Amino acid sequence: MTTSTPGPTRVPRHYLMCRPTYFTVSYEINPWMDRARPVDTALAVSQWERLRDVYLDLGHRVEQIAPEPGLPDMVYAANGATVVDGLVYSALFRHPERAPEGPAYLKWFADRGYVTHSADHVNEGEGDLLVAGDVVLAGTGFRTERSAHQEAANLWGREVVTLELVDPRFYHLDTALVVLRGSEGAPRLAPGGAPPPFLAPLPDGAAPPPEAPHLAPAPAAQVPLDLAYYPPAFSPASQEVLAERFPDAHHATEDDALVLGLNAVSDGRHVVHTPAATHFAGALAERGYETIAVDTSELLRGGGGAKCCTLEIRS
Ligand code: ARG
Repeated sequence: MTTSTPGPTRVPRHYLMCRPTYFTVSYEINPWMDRARPVDTALAVSQWERLRDVYLDLGHRVEQIAPEPGLPDMVYAANGATVVDGLVYSALFRHPERAPEGPAYLKWFADRGYVTHSADHVNEGEGDLLVAGDVVLAGTGFRTERSAHQEAANLWGREVVTLELVDPRFYHLDTALVVLRGSEGAPRLAPGGAPPPFLAPLPDGAAPPPEAPHLAPAPAAQVPLDLAYYPPAFSPASQEVLAERFPDAHHATEDDALVLGLNAVSDGRHVVHTPAATHFAGALAERGYETIAVDTSELLRGGGGAKCCTLEIRS
């Protein structure tokens, strides 16, 4: 018997993750972190392994970067860089405690032959830079500087939409907004339908990337977009921008937002999220997604969930 599988379509993903071998809370740089409460590192590792295994079971490719002692937040791979069209924009962390993570992640990509750009402006990778179809949604307010949004736009030749975060509990964009469909990125299209010229300043001696099939002209309408976000995390002006651009987006409840339910990972069909986000799970199912609850409670001690632990590589 064949079963029909209606609903949104999955797009295979390529992820980078970092085992939380040295995970702990030894400093406090967001309101979720509390040095006074001991962390169960072994529990964090087993939750992380489960998350990785879920991705593998879904058929996604997962690579790993070696964790480094003294960098307890390195498990939050999403902050390590942002990769669009195979072009790696390095992270430049706001807090000195995390500063060495930027070069560590950049080296991982450079060692594997990626074209890399070393950031001049403070940005915390996919924590604040989320690809949604052919645009990049960019958070600011707590970590990433607005000037980094411009740097990213120049690098990728894509429109970057600035969104201002106003609640310190939602200090990164990925704590308040999730791209449910379209995070793999859509081709950039110039008005004539052709991909715009490559705008990135290339490192010395680097050849421009070859014409890649994913840059071939395609109607933007072929890439469906879907989003969920928590409106009160954003300034009134940014709430307007979101409402105008994404009128059909799901608005998360406060309960879901306060368990970092929006720090979820979607492959366009399956959404991996914390089991604590109960309303959100129901809303996703109504929209046709398959929900997969993965407990990341011990990783929440540092202020992150599934998405924070997952860097998407778009090559
Ligand atoms: N403790 C880390 C910090 O405050 C948590 C980062 C979570 N990552 C994320 N993508 N939101 O920087």
